[in-house]
Amino acid sequence: MKHVIEELEKRRENARLGGGQARIDAQHKRGKLTARERIELLMDDGSFEEFDMFVEHRATEFGMEKTKIPGDGVVTGWGTINGRVVYVFAKDFTVFGGSLSETHAKKMTKIQDMALKNRAPIIGLFDAGGARIQEGVDALGGYGEVFTRNVLASGVIPQISLIMGPCAGGDVYSPAMTDFIFMVKDTSYMFVTGPDVVKTVTNETVTAEELGGAKVHTTKSSIADRAYENDVEALLQMRRLMDFLPSNNIDGVPELPTRDSADRLDPSLDTLIPDNPNKPYDIKELIHKVVDEGDFFEIQDAYAKNIVVGFARMEGHTVGIVANQPMVLAGVLDSDASRKAARFVRFCDCFEIPIVTFVDVPGFLPGTAQEYGGLIKHGAKLLFAYAEATVPKVTCITRKAYGGAYDVMSSKHIRGDVNYAWPTAEIAVMGAKGAAEIIYRSELSDPEKIKGRVDEYQRRFANPFVAAERGYIDEVILPRATRMRICRALNMLRNKTVENPWKKHDNIPL
Ligand code: HXC
Repeated sequence: MKHVIEELEKRRENARLGGGQARIDAQHKRGKLTARERIELLMDDGSFEEFDMFVEHRATEFGMEKTKIPGDGVVTGWGTINGRVVYVFAKDFTVFGGSLSETHAKKMTKIQDMALKNRAPIIGLFDAGGARIQEGVDALGGYGEVFTRNVLASGVIPQISLIMGPCAGGDVYSPAMTDFIFMVKDTSYMFVTGPDVVKTVTNETVTAEELGGAKVHTTKSSIADRAYENDVEALLQMRRLMDFLPSNNIDGVPELPTRDSADRLDPSLDTLIPDNPNKPYDIKELIHKVVDEGDFFEIQDAYAKNIVVGFARMEGHTVGIVANQPMVLAGVLDSDASRKAARFVRFCDCFEIPIVTFVDVPGFLPGTAQEYGGLIKHGAKLLFAYAEATVPKVTCITRKAYGGAYDVMSSKHIRGDVNYAWPTAEIAVMGAKGAAEIIYRSELSDPEKIKGRVDEYQRRFANPFVAAERGYIDEVILPRATRMRICRALNMLRNKTVENPWKKHDNIPL
């Protein structure tokens, strides 16, 4: 027996070395941890159970039968994060550059199947060179199997991708179908075709970082949802994120004990809105002051900053926050902001996360750039997402709610459940100046007269009461009481049950 146990330990030790000490050292030299070190940091101490440690590839082409490494470039298994079950796979760059073979894919799909069957989230840690070049179509087929499972699990269990090294070819499309992608600054990049292919096909010269680094994907392409300084920070933030997310689309949001009282008032909010209606203020101040203990996990913090989205808790229960940001482009809705918020709203709706919306929006952004870029379709995505969502929706208009953007931002008309407004709210078709100049175009030559018309429009519509008189706003609330009112509303809505008409699936304008 002793001999057998020694043999097992020897095999395990050998497998844990992956591609060998030299490649592990090279990984460390680049500022990256190994696959197993990453998993150790991600999971609760001692909770990770590895599967398929001894799996080897079966390829024979290009002399591959002579190079077999146990594990075959991916470490898979399950463990817990703050006590809740999570499945994980981590590409091992020290083994064939983490590239995907037929057997490597089988390890991944086994974990994907288990996560889906057992309704628990799955996290993928990526650091890989795409399809195993020596395997050809077996590797391509393997990717197809992984992609199919990504799609089937979408909306059933949260799928998170963390990019911690190069990611090329097939290794970008699996993350692209998951719910969130996070990256590590300076050491990770994602592209479909690398700089060499780009040079050959388009004659552009770009570095890997310029083509698909964390900065590009968090600020320009919006492929990545956030970037972190290093492996350790990224992994610890994944643990924090998982505390906000439900395990699946049935169980409901996790509940974390909080010392923040639901009826806490914040008098400083009474003066948050500047006297000058064109002066900005930071909507994040409101978010931090309203949610439990100011704890807000922002998604896409560096992209389309005119809208802010992320997770927080109210009375210990996770909520999704969507808020126009007056500090950036006056909080206007453009194509990027609409797409960003629409995807977030849909994530929340998939996973039964109530949505709290703070509105201060001057409308949709005018101009040829926006219209040519498809603003109509992108704006419709957000409208569609809010209207179809059946989770509890609580809305609070702090200042402007103009035009179509009023409708879109979780208004009563698209099934907002509880719609509040601050006394400073202005709900109208457009700003007073624009409105007066259209209605009284014939008086444009007389500045005095037009000023009077602007003031008249301002007096009539720059308030929440016209909407409140019609029941479109349920209650005009004191800013200081916002947290209390939202907590009460969410409590009241806890058993909300609404079913959309049966359909195979909807046809959201993609
Ligand atoms: C087999 C691979 C590999 C691959 C890397 N390696 N990529 N082995 N198949 N796809 C191996 C290398 O031979 C090397 O082995 C080790 O991994 C480390 O690679 P290096 O090139 O030395 O590292 P680095 O300089 O850091 O470059 C990393 C890299 C580069 C950027 C990922 O290796 C690269 O460009 N690889 C190919 C990327 C690619 O084109 N993949 C195919 C995409 S097509 P040794 O033994 O020397 O350590 C695809 C199709 C699927 O994925 C599409 C589905 C939609």
